[in-house]
Amino acid sequence: MKNKAVKIGQNSLCPCGSGKKYKNCCRNKKIEISIKEEYKRKYDIYLKEPHQIEGIRKSGKLLISILNQVEKMIKPGLKTEDINTLVHEETIKAGAIPAPLNYRGFPKSVCVSVNEVICHGIPGDRVLKDGDIVNVDITPILDGYYSDASKTFFVGTPSEQGKKIVSVAAESLKRGIQTIAPGATLGDIGYAIQSYAESCGCSVVREFVGHGVGIDFHEQPQVLHFGTRGKGTVLVPGMVFTIEPMINLGKKELHVLEDKWTAVTNDGSLSAQFEQTLAVTETGWESLTPYEL
Ligand code: MF3
Ligand code: CO
Ligand code: CO
Repeated sequence: MKNKAVKIGQNSLCPCGSGKKYKNCCRNKKIEISIKEEYKRKYDIYLKEPHQIEGIRKSGKLLISILNQVEKMIKPGLKTEDINTLVHEETIKAGAIPAPLNYRGFPKSVCVSVNEVICHGIPGDRVLKDGDIVNVDITPILDGYYSDASKTFFVGTPSEQGKKIVSVAAESLKRGIQTIAPGATLGDIGYAIQSYAESCGCSVVREFVGHGVGIDFHEQPQVLHFGTRGKGTVLVPGMVFTIEPMINLGKKELHVLEDKWTAVTNDGSLSAQFEQTLAVTETGWESLTPYEL
């Protein structure tokens, strides 16, 4: 005889033997599993299980503790190489691996991007001076789990321009994050960021985007920092991705230097960035690299 589908009451005990009601147990799991398969097949998006999110959260805790140490050492006279040394040593000390090192040929353990550098600045002999802004972007791999976050800091006393671009970039990330919920779309995130940043007279970089993260450095989906409300992939619980808007005080156009990495604004204007790793939850979102914005 063929197996016939048996109708199981919502409130009856789950046949898996968990002791929970069916509606709170396998009925949901079945849905999750099929969404998981669908997202992998349709979008190549890998939805994370709770234990994987816990792994990314731990990696994120380490990241934030290192970012806080960096913040304390930032002052005029510091070489960007000194930031690399601290990030590298603290990462290794914690039993983790700095993901940037040797990633597609990147030569250092952290990205350090000063003033008109948009992202992917290579630490070296550049000396921080009073009034600079500097983004520090850290990605540790802890127990196989990647977390990715960055902040832009003031060096000494900030200029009016520095204050403006850092505040607009931080608020852009905050507004992007606040749109996250199951049923919202990637376009909602991009729209929130773009509409805010442009209303402040700033511009949004197009060439670099946020990304799925956790099991690998750069996973699907791409998270654009510009877009249209309601467009793009629908967010579902278990999605883990970064939002990392790069906002320019002047025009959005950029070029990459001879070193093949350093991206700078064409017009030489200041650029600032904030990045966090976010998980979509049943009710909204959780930052796995939390800090105040
Ligand atoms: N951390 C960057 C990001 O947010 C990626 C840096 S790639 C590197 O995606 F090779 F420059 F490290
Ligand atoms: Co990133
Ligand atoms: Co990053």
